[in-house]
Amino acid sequence: MQNEQPEILFTTEEVEREVARLAREISDDYRGRRPLLVGILKGSFVFLADLIRTMDIPVEVDFVILSSYGPGTESSGEVRVVHGLEQSIEGRDVIVVEDIVDSGITISHFLDDLRARDPASLKLCVLVDKTARREKEIRIDYKGVEVSDEFVVGYGIDCNEQYRYLPDIRFVKTGEE
Ligand code: IMP
Ligand code: MG
Repeated sequence: MQNEQPEILFTTEEVEREVARLAREISDDYRGRRPLLVGILKGSFVFLADLIRTMDIPVEVDFVILSSYGPGTESSGEVRVVHGLEQSIEGRDVIVVEDIVDSGITISHFLDDLRARDPASLKLCVLVDKTARREKEIRIDYKGVEVSDEFVVGYGIDCNEQYRYLPDIRFVKTGEE
C-alpha cells in the first residue's frame, strides 16, 4: 500500500462537466425513445449512476461483467463474459457504457457479441479514451476525456480493487501500483 494518493488528472468538477455534456448529448439524440444502457462492471458503475441521473429521458439499465484483465495492468487479450445480460436486446436501442477503452480488445469482442443479437441500434459511451495503445479500431459515439497511456483510477475505476471510491480521476505511476 502506498502512502501517497495518486495525482489528479481530472478534478471532480471536470468529471461532472464531462458527464453532464454526455448526458445532454445522449438525451438529445434519444428523445422520444427509451434506450437500454448496458454498463460494464465494475468500472462503469459510478459513471453510469451519475449519467442516468443527469439525463432527462427515461432509460433502462442492465449490467454485464466481462473479464479481460487478471490482476495487474495489462489486457490479457482473452475476454470472458462472467455475467451476461438479463434481457433480450432485439429491437432495442442499446448504449454500452464503459469506463475505459485501452487496447479496445474487451469492448470490440463485446460489441460484436451484441451486434449479433439484432439491437435496433448500438452505440458506445466511454468515460476515458486511452488512445496510446489501441489495437482494435473502435468508434466511440459518446466520449468523455482522453488520456495517453497513464494508468488511471478513481470515479469507479480501480487498480487491483483500490481507489474506486475517489470522486475524481487520478493516475498511478507505473511501478507504484
Ligand atoms: P482493453 O481491452 O485493453 O481496451 O481494456 C479495457 C479494460 O481494461 C477497461 O474496461 C478497464 O476496466 C481496464 N483498464 C484499461 N486501462 C485501465 C486503466 O488505466 N485503469 C484501470 N483499468 C483500466
Ligand atoms: Mg472495464
